[in-house]
Amino acid sequence: MEKLHKPDLKLARKRSKEHIETKEYQKTEIINLGLGKKYLIQTHGCQANEADTEVLAGLLEDQAFTKTDIIEETDVLIINTCAIRENAENKVFGELGRLKSYKKVNPNMIIAVAGCMPQEEAVVERILNKYKHVDIVFGTHNVSQFIEYLHYVMVEKKRLIEVFSKEGDIIENLPQARDHRFKAWVNIMYGCDEFCTYCIVPYTRGKERSRQKDYIIKEVKNLVKRGYKEITLLGQNVNSYGLDFDNIDYSFANLLEDLAKLDVPRIKFTTSHPKDFSDDIIDIISKYDNIMPFIHLPVQSGSNSVLKKMNRKYTKEEYLTLVEKIYDKIPNVSLTTDIIVAFPSETEDDFKETLDLVEKARFEGAYTFIYSPRKGTPAASYENNISEEEAKSRLYQLNKLVNEGYLRGNKRFEHQTVKVLVEGPSKTRPDVLSGYTENNKLVNFKGPESLVGKIIEVYIEEAKTWSLDGIIKNS
Ligand code: 5AD
Ligand code: SF4
Repeated sequence: MEKLHKPDLKLARKRSKEHIETKEYQKTEIINLGLGKKYLIQTHGCQANEADTEVLAGLLEDQAFTKTDIIEETDVLIINTCAIRENAENKVFGELGRLKSYKKVNPNMIIAVAGCMPQEEAVVERILNKYKHVDIVFGTHNVSQFIEYLHYVMVEKKRLIEVFSKEGDIIENLPQARDHRFKAWVNIMYGCDEFCTYCIVPYTRGKERSRQKDYIIKEVKNLVKRGYKEITLLGQNVNSYGLDFDNIDYSFANLLEDLAKLDVPRIKFTTSHPKDFSDDIIDIISKYDNIMPFIHLPVQSGSNSVLKKMNRKYTKEEYLTLVEKIYDKIPNVSLTTDIIVAFPSETEDDFKETLDLVEKARFEGAYTFIYSPRKGTPAASYENNISEEEAKSRLYQLNKLVNEGYLRGNKRFEHQTVKVLVEGPSKTRPDVLSGYTENNKLVNFKGPESLVGKIIEVYIEEAKTWSLDGIIKNS
C-alpha cells in the first residue's frame, strides 16, 4: 500500500488558538542513506522556499548525499514549488511532464514534489492521476521529516503522499546547507494570518508563528562568526513579528535593534505589510547604519475600493502617509512594492488611482502582476469581467511608469560613491563583477575575483534603468 495523506484547504483556513511549541530537531536513526548518491533541488517562488531548500539540502548532506546540477546523474530530485499564481504552477507541471523521460532512462531516480503546491487538493489529485512517476509529495509543514519519507520510498519502493494541512511546532536547529557564503536568509516567522482575499499563502503556509528571539539571535551571531556579510530576515509579514507571543512583549522593532547591535555588516528584511509598519520600526531603521535603507512595502493597489475587496486593511491615503513618514525619517531610503492589476471588478478609474499612487510614492522598483484566481480563496468566486487584453494593457502601462521609477532611483547615485557587496561575475557580462549597494541597486564594475564577498567602494559613472556602471574607488 502506498502512504496517502492528502491536504484539505478548508482545514488549512482554520486558525486555532493552540499554543505553538518550539522543539529542537531530533536526528533520525537513519544514517548514510545517500552514500555515493547525488541530489538536485529545483526551487521556485519566494525566499521562504529558498530557505526550505537549504534545510532539505542540509538534511540530505547529513545523509552523505552530494549535490549535482545535472538531472541525468541525480538519484534524488526535489521540485520545491510555488502556488502564488497559475503560471508558477503551470511551469511546474510542464517540468514534471518532462521528467517522465528522465525516469525512463534512470528508473531509480526518486522524484519528490515539495513546497506550496502540494498543500492544494487539486494539485495532489492531478499528480496522483497524471504524474505517476512522482514518488514523494510532501508539503511545507513536514520538511523536517523528509529523510524518513525518502527512506520509506527507497526501501518499500512505493509512493508516499504526506501533506499536513495544519502547521505543527516550530522546529529549531535543523541542518542547513546554505547556498551562499556571505549572504544568508534567516526566518524570523512562518505563516500568514492576513488572508488577503486573492492570496493562497495563509492556506499553504499556515498560521503566523514567530521564532523565539534567542534562537534567531544565536543563528545570526553564528553567521557573523562565519564571515557572513548580509542577513535577510524573512517572513510573509515581518512587521507583525512577536504579536503571537503570549508571555513576552517583544516586537519586530526590538528584534531589529538587538540584531543591529551585533556585528552584522548588513541587515535586510522582507516582506513588510503596511498595516503593521510602526513608528518604532522606522526609528530603528534610521538609527542603525547596518540596517539597509531599502524597504519592500507591497501596496497591491491604489484604489480604496479594490484595497477593501482585497482585505488589505489600509487606504491609499494611509499608505501614502506611511510612505511620507518613511521618507522623512530615512531620507536616503529606496522603496519598492508589489502591485496586482485587473483584480476582479477593477475599473479604469481604480487603475488610474494605482498609477497615481505609484507616482506619489516614488517607488524605485516594483513587482507587478496580473491577478490570477487561486482556488479556495475568497476572490476566486468574485465576478471577474476584465478581459485578458485589458489586463495586459494595464500591466503594460503600469510597467512603463514603474520603469521610470527604476531609472530615477538609479540616477540618484550617478557620480556618487556607493558601498557594494561584491557577488561575483555579472550574469550578463562575465568580464565584469557585480554586486548590490545598500539601497539594493545592482552595480557592474571591473575588478579582480578576489573581491567577491567583500564590501567595497565603487564610484558610479553611469546609471541605466536596471543597473549602475562604476569603477572601484582608488584603483
Ligand atoms: N494573483 C496575482 N498576484 C498575486 N500575488 C499574491 N497572490 C496573487 C494572485 N492570486 C502577488 C502579490 C504579493 C506577491 C508575492 O504576489 O502582489 O505581494
Ligand atoms: Fe498573501 Fe496578504 Fe499574507 Fe502577503 S500578507 S502572504 S499577500 S495573505
